[in-house]
Amino acid sequence: MSNLERVIYRSRATLLPDAEVIGGAIDDIAEAARANNARDAITGVLVYSDGVFMQVLEGRPPALDATLARIGKDRRHKDLHVLRRETVSGRMFPDTPLAFVSSAMVREATMGSGRGISMDIGRLPTEIFAPLLRTLLTTPSVPNVTGMLRRA
Ligand SMILES: Cc1cc2nc3c(=O)[nH]c(=O)nc-3n(C[C@H](O)[C@H](O)[C@H](O)COP(=O)(O)O)c2cc1C
Repeated sequence: MSNLERVIYRSRATLLPDAEVIGGAIDDIAEAARANNARDAITGVLVYSDGVFMQVLEGRPPALDATLARIGKDRRHKDLHVLRRETVSGRMFPDTPLAFVSSAMVREATMGSGRGISMDIGRLPTEIFAPLLRTLLTTPSVPNVTGMLRRA
């Protein structure tokens, strides 16, 4: 597939760091994203951890730019920085307009146990971020993996 790109950005949530507030916002985001991303052939994954959003988005450049511009105007977060943008030969998340991976899964995969320890997911090397999320989404042996997927 030619002319396909993958973007990874991070941003800071402006929402109260309350599980219900964040959970509700992620549900709303997932609902909008499911419709828009499916329409625009965008696929990706969203992660939230300790006030930080990270998202992987894949698609054709014009659709990616339009999606990023829309997301960038959203007041539920701020300080959006694109960490990585590259041309890719195929999608890592071909089946999900927007999957959700919990911070607990990322923490467990990268730090062993470590529950309750705060972790800045934005500091993970960007070259491992998308492959790590794909592994978490596709490995059935990871405990509770289905519970970590929202409307995938
Ligand atoms: C962290 C974050 C990630 C988002 N990801 C997406 C996305 O992948 N696709 C999308 O269409 N909207 C996404 N949104 C929501 C958009 O900012 C915006 O609210 C939505 O696209 C509006 O859609 P509508 O005009 O169809 O209602 C995201 C918002 C936030 C805060």
